[in-house]
Amino acid sequence: MVARTNGTIAKDPVGDRPERDSQVERTSPSEGETLRQHCRGMMPLDAIWPDWMMELLRDAANETSLLRGWLKQWGSPLNVLNVDPMRRAIRAIQDVASDRGLPVQLHFARKANKCPQFVQAGLGEGIGFDVASEPELQQTLEVMRKAAASPQQDRLVCTASIKSHSLMRLCVENDVVLVIDNPDELQTLRETLAAMANPQARVALRWRPDSEQAPAFQSRFGMPTSAWSDEAKRIASEQRIKLVGVHFHFQRSLSQFDPTWTRTRIAEALVAVDHFRELGNEVRWLDIGGGLPINYLRNASQWSDFLSVSQNDDSARRLTWDGRLLRNVDPMWQPWSAAKWLGEVLQPETVTAIRSRDLILKCEPGRSLLDGCGMTLAEVAFVKPCSANSNSQGDHWIGLHMNSSQCRTTRDEFLVDPIVLPMNAGGARGRALEGFFVGVYCTESEYLFQRRFQFPNGIARGDLVAIPNTAAYQMHFQESRAHQMPLANHVFTGNFV
Ligand SMILES: Cc1ncc(COP(=O)(O)O)c(C=O)c1O
Repeated sequence: MVARTNGTIAKDPVGDRPERDSQVERTSPSEGETLRQHCRGMMPLDAIWPDWMMELLRDAANETSLLRGWLKQWGSPLNVLNVDPMRRAIRAIQDVASDRGLPVQLHFARKANKCPQFVQAGLGEGIGFDVASEPELQQTLEVMRKAAASPQQDRLVCTASIKSHSLMRLCVENDVVLVIDNPDELQTLRETLAAMANPQARVALRWRPDSEQAPAFQSRFGMPTSAWSDEAKRIASEQRIKLVGVHFHFQRSLSQFDPTWTRTRIAEALVAVDHFRELGNEVRWLDIGGGLPINYLRNASQWSDFLSVSQNDDSARRLTWDGRLLRNVDPMWQPWSAAKWLGEVLQPETVTAIRSRDLILKCEPGRSLLDGCGMTLAEVAFVKPCSANSNSQGDHWIGLHMNSSQCRTTRDEFLVDPIVLPMNAGGARGRALEGFFVGVYCTESEYLFQRRFQFPNGIARGDLVAIPNTAAYQMHFQESRAHQMPLANHVFTGNFV
């Protein structure tokens, strides 16, 4: 269920913090502190809260506020979204690319958020889409049909990790480029085509560096240039399949955000382009995937302090429930915005190498286009002391009307401090306490965050908890309907397309 509000809430966050340029918190430090004061991690990780979120949260003190009204109407948890930051992120990337003399074709990776409003916003900006499943493709085609989107070759690419006959067929019928991962997948495509009348499939081959090119790098996706040779040769002689692109995508570790790392991969992938062309294919583009950086935190020092303590068994013990170590985490702070990073990747040598081959450059950001586009709200159902014999004696469990699948990816933890909005004077209000957020599912492990939080002014039933910047993956990637519970509702604010 999606509700829409009028466009009066969102304002353009603009500003000049040096380390990032897409989402900027303009709220004054004292206003921000006032909102943050009710909930801090044992080692605080202050999130960046775009203005439109801060305005809604500030206004929630008012009984007739939009937030309170939405929660009453749509229940907890509630995902509140805004497409305006996505538009700005697209323009920032496009501006940097054209400054470098190499316009880039953007494809929003739909897997990052299921809401079709982001497709509508993307269409308005003239970008394309990367789909990874049949429902994602069907929904995207539907939104495009309704918007009467002008035909643009290669506007849609399909990067699904595993593709059924029916997904392949839908791609071919709609001229969607299939990014092929391995020779077996090509074989499945040939079978799909054999059952169609006069089909024409356009494909890109998913490339990855070989072990000499990137010894420390591992990925289950794609194949090195040499492993593709036979297939590229065979495709060149096939009527029904055209090889139009070379594709890579890497989920980057912090060190791989170094633009040099991606520049090197581009140079290697260009060798693959040359090779496939020599074999008789008309390769027209190189797609460097997603994985553009995003910054969740205000403070580099909070992040480095947290990392140094949380990776050490002894010092980490007070930070988390049961002393759990949080090893598999996203780089929550890093020095790049997506646009600046792409600008650094597109150094003159790289631009010349791409242009001299008359290639189009594509990329498929998901997360970075959704920076600042959504937050998740939940209501406190109870606050109770942890049992005397638990490892967390003296702590409290704070139950939320929300389950752990509703703000989760495949990482161990989403490392941001939520904001707590006190809604009433009763319960444990006024008494400092520490504790853990727990959720609706019936398991002992149902912790919404593994981290222990401090509540200097207490926390009570009916309070609201706001989790920042959840639009990319956090809202939808793991959401489940265990216990047959309904999925969270969505409210869009800001300016609509
Ligand atoms: C093939 C492909 N392209 C693009 C993306 C988007 O990546 P990100 O959201 O990190 O930009 C993904 C994410 O998993 C992907 O698998």
